[in-house]
Amino acid sequence: MNLTEDRILAHFSPRPVRYYPRIDSTNDAALKWLSQGAPAGAVVVTDEQVQGRGRLGRVWFTPPGTALILSVILRPQSTHLGRITMLGAVVISELLENLGAADVAIKWPNDVQLNKRKVCGVLPEVIWRGSELLGVVLGMGLNVRIDFSGTELAEKAISIEPALGRSVDRLDLLTFLLARIDFWSANLSAQSLFDAWKRRLNTPGKTVSFEKGVSGVAESVNAEGALLVRDSKGTLHTVLAGDVSLGSE
Ligand code: BTN
Repeated sequence: MNLTEDRILAHFSPRPVRYYPRIDSTNDAALKWLSQGAPAGAVVVTDEQVQGRGRLGRVWFTPPGTALILSVILRPQSTHLGRITMLGAVVISELLENLGAADVAIKWPNDVQLNKRKVCGVLPEVIWRGSELLGVVLGMGLNVRIDFSGTELAEKAISIEPALGRSVDRLDLLTFLLARIDFWSANLSAQSLFDAWKRRLNTPGKTVSFEKGVSGVAESVNAEGALLVRDSKGTLHTVLAGDVSLGSE
């Protein structure tokens, strides 16, 4: 079924939701709304995103009707900021598992993989006012029925519907996601959030490269969510954020 403004606003009332049939970037719209005073839990949703932002300056392309594209405004304590990355990956994993997907994993720090391919991108962005954290925009782009065949992403990306072999309603996905975001936002400092993230990580044990040319074996993660990587000389590196590539990529 299509995502329409009527369906979304009626369904989520009284939650503040802004729906756009087409937008440059839901993260941009949510960052602007946050800077104007949007409350925690406010959401921007679109059906088509034409200038979506990915990590490391990449473009996140979303044709109309093919994905669940949203940005949620959160107002965590600054000491819990690192937990937002975990929250994003955990709620998407929970959603996929709830749909019956068997092979769900998180590639550190927050790429969610379904059947070993990326099904969702998560991009948290932060606004500070001096030393005060104004809030976080948690952007998520979930591939629902994007057809990657014949593209350069064919071996790397996947969509929910072809993976599950059935259709899903994006409003149902959004309802589940927002409920889980609300739950984990209220439990951001809980050990159970860290555990839920860590037990789904598939990066430990793998050879990864990070920064320019440095590679090693990912051993584990620490309590802050950093990846611990041991290089060939035995030095342990604490990789805080950003991108790691697996040896095979
Ligand atoms: C990644 O590179 O893996 C992160 C991609 C994040 C894309 C989402 S889609 C919704 C939100 N709006 C954006 O412009 N980007 C994020």
